Amino acid sequence: MGENAKKTFYITTPIYYVNDVPHIGHAYTTIIADTAARFKKMMGYDVFFLTGTDEHGQKIEKAAAARGIQPLELADRMVIRFKDLWKALNIDYDGFIRTTQPHHEQVVQALFRKLKDRGDIYRGSYEGYYCVSDENFLSADVPLEDGGFKICPDCGKQAGQVSEECYFFRLSAYQQRLLDFYAENPTFVRPQSRMNEITSFVRQGLRDLSITRSTVRWGVAIPDDPDHTVYVWFDALHNYLSGIGFGSNDALYRKFWPANVHLIGKDILRFHAVYWPAFLMASGFSLPECVFGHGWWLKDKSKMSKSKGNVLDPHLILDTFGTDPLRYFLLREIPVGLDGNFSHEGFIHRVNSDLANDLGNLVQRVLTMIRSYFSGRISEIGEATGEDQELNTKFLEHRDRIIEHYDDLAINRALEDLWGYINTVNRYLADNEPWKKAKQAGARARLGRILYQAAAAIRTIACLVYPVMPESADKIWHFLGEGTSPGETVLAHLAFDDLETGVEFLKPDQLFPRVDLKDFLKEKPVETPAGKQKKEGEMEQITFDEFKRMDLRVAEILQAERVEGTNKLIKMKIDIGDETRQMIAGIADTYAPEDLTGKKLIVIVNLKPAVIRGIESQAMLLAAVKPDDSAIVPFFSEDVPTGAPVK
Ligand code: MSP
Repeated sequence: MGENAKKTFYITTPIYYVNDVPHIGHAYTTIIADTAARFKKMMGYDVFFLTGTDEHGQKIEKAAAARGIQPLELADRMVIRFKDLWKALNIDYDGFIRTTQPHHEQVVQALFRKLKDRGDIYRGSYEGYYCVSDENFLSADVPLEDGGFKICPDCGKQAGQVSEECYFFRLSAYQQRLLDFYAENPTFVRPQSRMNEITSFVRQGLRDLSITRSTVRWGVAIPDDPDHTVYVWFDALHNYLSGIGFGSNDALYRKFWPANVHLIGKDILRFHAVYWPAFLMASGFSLPECVFGHGWWLKDKSKMSKSKGNVLDPHLILDTFGTDPLRYFLLREIPVGLDGNFSHEGFIHRVNSDLANDLGNLVQRVLTMIRSYFSGRISEIGEATGEDQELNTKFLEHRDRIIEHYDDLAINRALEDLWGYINTVNRYLADNEPWKKAKQAGARARLGRILYQAAAAIRTIACLVYPVMPESADKIWHFLGEGTSPGETVLAHLAFDDLETGVEFLKPDQLFPRVDLKDFLKEKPVETPAGKQKKEGEMEQITFDEFKRMDLRVAEILQAERVEGTNKLIKMKIDIGDETRQMIAGIADTYAPEDLTGKKLIVIVNLKPAVIRGIESQAMLLAAVKPDDSAIVPFFSEDVPTGAPVK
C-alpha cells in the first residue's frame, strides 16, 4: 500500500439463491452490510461492498423445472427482483456477482483444477442423504426415518438418498490447520459464541467433502470430466474471489483481498467458517478477517423462509412507510447476533415513538422556530454558556461511543446511544424554552444561541444516523442548507460547531409521519400466509394440515355410461379399495365411456356428495381443465393398487 493509500474495507453478503423472490431475511443481511459499508466510508476507508446471486445447483434446477422454464431464465427473472429490492432499500453495493457469469465459472474451474493437481481432490463415490433445500450433505449420524428418508436437522425438510460418483475434497487433512487458525484468530467467527460452536464442531473431526455432483446437470462443468458438475457450495463460496476481480481484475483483487467481513446468517456458518477457509488454505490464499453470523428474523416464532411460507414481503412495508423506517427497525430492534420476531405492532411503535416523536419532531420544531423567529437565518448568536458547552461535550462522548459501536457491528447499540443523544438535545430545548425567550424582550441573542445549538446538534445527528437512514439524513442535511450529503463527512472529525452561521435553513417537510396501527392493518394489502400480495385469481395458501384433510385415493373405474340428456356427463361405478361408489364427471367431451373401464385415476373420497342432474356423485376425480373447458384426466400407467392413498 502506498503512503497516501487509504485503508481498505471489503464486506460481502451471502449470494442469494434465485429459486424465489427476496424477503425480509435477505433484506436484513443486505441492510446490515450497506450500513457497515457506509459507516466505513465515513471513517475514511476505501470500501468495496459485494453482493450477488447463487444461481446453480439442484435447488434452482428443481425450482425452474417446477415453473417449466430453464434455470437461467429463472435466474434472470429473479436477479431483477433482487436488484429492484436493493434499489428500493437504498443499497449502495459496489459489485453484484452472478455465479453464471463466465469469469466466475472460470475461477471455479481454475481453482478446482489447482486443488486436484495438488492432490487435495480425489475421485470416489458418495452414499448418503442430501437436503436439496440447504444444498447440504447430511452427516451420517442423522437418524433414518420410517419412509426411508432423513430429516435435515437444519431446515427440517426431507433429505433423500443419494448414491453417486463424485470428487472429494480432503477436508479431513485441514482439521488441525483450521484449529490452529481459530486459536490464532479468536475473532475470526463472531459473535464469540459461534466461534466456540465452530471450534467444537471441527474438534470432533472432519470428513472429506463431496464437491461434485453427477446427478445434477445445472452447475459449473468440471474440467476434463463432463459427467460431473461442481457442488454448488464450492462454486458459490468462490464468488468472494471472483466478485473482487480475482482472475479478471488483478489490481482490484490485490487491493481488497482478503475480505474484512463475510456477513452471513447463522444458518450458513459452517460453510463459511470451516469449508471456505479450508478451500482457501488448500489453494494458497490468505484468509478473511471475520465471518459474522447474524441471527434470524422470525415470524410466528419460526425462521422466516420461503419454503415455510411465513415470509414478509418487504415491498408491502416499503410502499406504506418508505425505506428508512424499515432499515431503522431491523437494525434497532435486535443485536446483529440474535434472533428477532417481526411484528407489525413492534414496527409501528418504533416508527411512532423513535422516528416520528423523538427525531422527526426535534427537526421539525427547531427548524420551524428558526424560520418563524429568524426567517430561516439565525442572525444573532449570544455567547455559549456552561450549559451550551455541556451539550457539546455530551456530543463528543456520544460520537466516540457511537463510532465504536458501529465499528463493532453493534448497530443496535449505536442507535440506542444516538437516541440517548437525541433525548439530551430534546431535554436541552425543554430546559431552555426558546419559545418563551422569543417573547421576552432582550433575549434575542440567547434565543439565537439556543437555536444554533439545537441546529448544530441536528446536523451531527444527521451524520451519525446516515449509515442506517441515508435518505432521511440527506433530507435533514438539505433542510440545514448543506450542499452535499452527510455521507461525505469524516465521522471521526465531526465537530459540533461545524454548522455555518448565516446560512438559510429551509422549511422542513415532515420526515416520518405517525401511523395508526388500526389504519395500517386496515389499509394493508391482503397478505397470504406467505406474506405475498395476492394477484388476481391467485388462490390463498393452505397449510399442510389443511391439505392432509383430503382423502385422495387411487380408484379403478368398473363401469362407465353417459348420463342421458347431457353432452358432458359420464356416470361411473368406481372401486376405491374398501367399497364401490358412484361418481359423475363432466368428461364426455374428451373420453368415450367404453374407453374408461379398467382405468385407474385419483379421486377425492371425503368431499360432501353432490347431486348432479338428480344423480348422487359420491366422489370427485382430479383432471386438468383446458382453456376450452374440456378435461384431461391423468390416468396411471403404472400398476398401482386400487385404494392406495395419494399424498
Ligand atoms: N446461496 C446461499 C449462500 C451462499 S454464500 C456463498 C444461501 N442463500 S439463501 O438465499 O438461502 O440465504 C442467504 C441468506 O439470507 C442467509 O444466510 C441469511 O443471511 C439470509 N436469511 C434468509 N432468511 C433469513 C431470516 N429469516 N432472517 C435473517 N436472515 C435470513 O444460503
